[in-house]
Amino acid sequence: MPIETTASVVADVPADVELLAVPFDADLVPAVELDLHVPVAALLAHYDAKGEAGEVIEVPVAREGGVGRVLLYGVGDGSPRALRKAAAALTRKAKGKQALAVVPPQGDVTAFAEAALLAAYTFKIGAPGKLPVRALTFVGADEGSVRRGETVAQAVALARDLTNTPASVKNPAWLAERAAEHDVPVRVWDEEQLQAGGFGGIVAVGQGSANPPRLIQLSYTPAEPSDRHVVLVGKGITFDSGGLSLKPNENMKTQKTDMAGGAVVIAVISALARLGAPMRVTGLIASAENMPSGTAQRPSDVIKHYGGRTVEVLNTDAEGRLVLADALAYADAELDPDAVVDIATLTGAITVALGRGYGAVYATDDDLARRLVDAGQVSDDRLWRMPLIDDYAPALDSPIADLANVESGSTYGAGSITAALFLREFAGKRPWAHLDIAGVGRSTVDDGVLTKGATGFGVRVLLEWLTR
Ligand code: BES
Ligand code: MN
Ligand code: ZN
Repeated sequence: MPIETTASVVADVPADVELLAVPFDADLVPAVELDLHVPVAALLAHYDAKGEAGEVIEVPVAREGGVGRVLLYGVGDGSPRALRKAAAALTRKAKGKQALAVVPPQGDVTAFAEAALLAAYTFKIGAPGKLPVRALTFVGADEGSVRRGETVAQAVALARDLTNTPASVKNPAWLAERAAEHDVPVRVWDEEQLQAGGFGGIVAVGQGSANPPRLIQLSYTPAEPSDRHVVLVGKGITFDSGGLSLKPNENMKTQKTDMAGGAVVIAVISALARLGAPMRVTGLIASAENMPSGTAQRPSDVIKHYGGRTVEVLNTDAEGRLVLADALAYADAELDPDAVVDIATLTGAITVALGRGYGAVYATDDDLARRLVDAGQVSDDRLWRMPLIDDYAPALDSPIADLANVESGSTYGAGSITAALFLREFAGKRPWAHLDIAGVGRSTVDDGVLTKGATGFGVRVLLEWLTR
C-alpha cells in the first residue's frame, strides 16, 4: 500500500488542533508563541532538552473540552539530515493519532515533509497494529516543497511495497504488470523473445524456475523534448535461492528483496513526470527467479550474453551480474545513452565493506561519480565511492570462455569489486556507474524513516540526481 497518511498545507495553526508540533532551536526558544502557563525555557530545562534532532517533548495544554498536546521538537544543526530525523520522530510520536499539525523548521521543508511521510510507511499482510497518524498538516509551509517531498516519499513507498511483497505473489511477469501501471510506455520481452533476442544471461538464470523471466523497458520522455538520455538498469531477481549453488536457509530467507534495484528503477520512473525531469530516462529491469530444478543452469555451464560475450558460470548464486550483463550490453548497443547507472543487491561482500548506512558507487567517470555522491549526501541515500581495481580483473579469467562469473580460487577476494569489474565488461565505453545496494536495501530495525524490511534505497538519490 502507498503511504496512507495525507499531507496538507494551511496558513495558520488550526484553532481546534488536537496535536501541534513546534520546533525549538539551540537557544531553546520555540518558533511560535505558546500559551503554556509555564515559561517554555523552564519547561525545556526541566526536561533536560538539548535541542537535538529527534528529541520530542510532549506538553499537555488546556483545550476546549479537554486536554491537547504540544510537541516541542529539536532540530539539531538544522541540516537536511537533522530535519529528516526530527520529522520522522514526530510522525512516530503521533502514531495512533488522527492528525498532527506541524510548524515546520527553518531550512529544507522538502526533506522535512518527505521524512515525516516516510516514517508513516507500513507494510503488513494481516491485522495492522497501531496505525500511523492519518493526517499531517504543515503550517505556513511552501506548498511546492511539501508536494515534492510527498512525491519522493510515495516513490520510495512504491519501491518498498514491491520489494516487501512475498515471492509467492511476485514473479517476473507480476513485476512487468506492476511496471506497466505508471503512465509510461512499457515494452516487455517474454522468455521466448529473450531467447530469440540473444539475452542468454537472463534466460540462463530464469530457466530453473516455473516462473519465466522478463526484461522490462520503461521509456520516460520529458514534456520539453531533450537530447540527453539516461539509462537506469535494475536487478530484478524476484527470489534468489542461489539456484543449484543453493543458499543456506539463513541467507535465503531475505532474498525476496533481491529485486530491490528493479523496484527502485520502476519507482524512480513513476515519479519523473511529476518532478519535471528534463531528460529522457529509460528503465531496464532484468527480472528472473533464481531456482534449482532439473532445468536449472549448472555450475560449469557456458552461456552467451547479449552481444556475444561468453561466460563460464562457476556459481549459479552469482546470478545478478548475469541478468545485468544482458541489459547493460543491450543499452550500450541499442539505446545510445549519455550515461548508464545500474542498481543491484549484488553482493553480500559490500555489507562487510560499508555496512547498512552507505551504498556503494563504482564508476568509470569521475564527474558521474561525484554527482551521484553529492546527490546521495543531499537526499540522505548516502553513497561511498569504491574503486574499480584493474589489478583484480584476472580474477574473472576463464580457460574456456571470455569471462568467468566468479573467481574460482581466492587469490583476489574483494567480492563487490570483482562483481563491478564483471559488469564493466558489458557497459561499453559510455559513462557508467554501478550501485551495489545489498547492504542498504533492507533494514533490520524500525527507526527514523526506515521500517523493518525494504528501504527503497536508491529512489531518493536517483531522483535527486535526475531532477534537481
Ligand atoms: N542476492 C545476492 C546478494 C545479497 C546477499 C543481497 C545478501 C542481499 C543480502 C547475490 O545474488 C549473491 O548471492 N551474491 C553472492 C555472490 C557470490 C556467489 C560470488 C554473495 O554475495 O555471496
Ligand atoms: Mn545470488
Ligand atoms: Zn541475487
